[in-house]
Amino acid sequence: SFAGGMASTSKVPLQSRNLPWVEKYRPQTLDDLISHKDILSTLQRFISEDKLPHLLFYGPPGTGKTSTILACARQLYKDKEFNSMVLELNASDDRGIDVVRGPILSFASTRTIFKKGFKLVILDEADAMTQDAQNALRRVIEKFTENTRFCLICNYLSKIIPALQSRCTRFRFGPLSPDQMVPRLEHVIQQENVEVTPDGMKAIVTLSSGDMRRSLNILQSTSMAYGKVTEDTVYTCTGQPLRSDIANILDWCLNKDFNTAYNQILQLKTLKGLALHDILTEVHLLVHRVDFPPAIRITLLTKLADIEHRLASGTNEKIQLSSMVAAFQAVRDLVVSEAS
Ligand SMILES: Nc1ncnc2c1ncn2[C@@H]1O[C@H](COP(=O)(O)OP(=O)(O)O)[C@@H](O)[C@H]1O
Ligand SMILES: [Mg+2]
Repeated sequence: SFAGGMASTSKVPLQSRNLPWVEKYRPQTLDDLISHKDILSTLQRFISEDKLPHLLFYGPPGTGKTSTILACARQLYKDKEFNSMVLELNASDDRGIDVVRGPILSFASTRTIFKKGFKLVILDEADAMTQDAQNALRRVIEKFTENTRFCLICNYLSKIIPALQSRCTRFRFGPLSPDQMVPRLEHVIQQENVEVTPDGMKAIVTLSSGDMRRSLNILQSTSMAYGKVTEDTVYTCTGQPLRSDIANILDWCLNKDFNTAYNQILQLKTLKGLALHDILTEVHLLVHRVDFPPAIRITLLTKLADIEHRLASGTNEKIQLSSMVAAFQAVRDLVVSEAS
């Protein structure tokens, strides 16, 4: 059901329980959005002058692309016209040429009951469309520009064919800054009556790197699993190694013999269900922060990069873990005095 998804996101009563917070706190109007004010005011102007062009929203996940076009649609159409005027295709719908020739074409070519105004087609995750489908879409857009507007949404602009790009007004949705995220999180924290420590808040902001959806999901899952949201519970809930875990790992690598270091890390990794890749990312950051002599730092960074490369190609985690321990042991005599 293509229009069905639209109806369910737009008509959920705000007070409903058990909703994921990302939906419960999805901005309803353009004014509710907390970022990209320049984009919002431009869109507002297009709407008020009745000159909405075809749109292309791009940028990383969780930055408000879908919320923005839904808010525009809510402003453009009354509730009762919504389903006949808006077609929303999201990730769960097929992305082949058949969708363009089928549902999209028939929606765009059907005359509107409400004579005035245009219909709106929202194509979420348009970068998943095949080249053929994109070419077919370009022809549909050209043919029905009179009475239909298209909004394409994607993460990667480069995956949209130039012929489509050039027919749309493009807007880049950048990651949200901590300044923008924190007040919004605080609003939700207050509404939901969650206890969050300052370092818990910091951990959420750090781990979500500008993705508001991710920050809300971390907040909700941590508070549901642990009650109080602290640095510890956030990292544990997301399966990310704690700073103290990483400090321990580095300490074992540099100060214990190989077998002890290897076994203790393996034990910690198993106990906490950590991925070696995540450990490696954090260890790498710590290597940058610790005051190693330059030559040693370079050797270590090169070795860590090699391990990461091998891990990415699906090699055995235990072998790569021993390689990581070995990398530190190889330089340990030179660094012990510097690192402690
Ligand atoms: N700019 C924003 N202002 C307020 N909330 C936001 C913003 N961007 C994202 N969110 C929150 O994150 C959720 C996901 O946003 P969404 O618009 O679906 O992001 P995208 O389509 O860019 O992946 C929303 O339901 C909302 O709760
Ligand atoms: Mg989206």
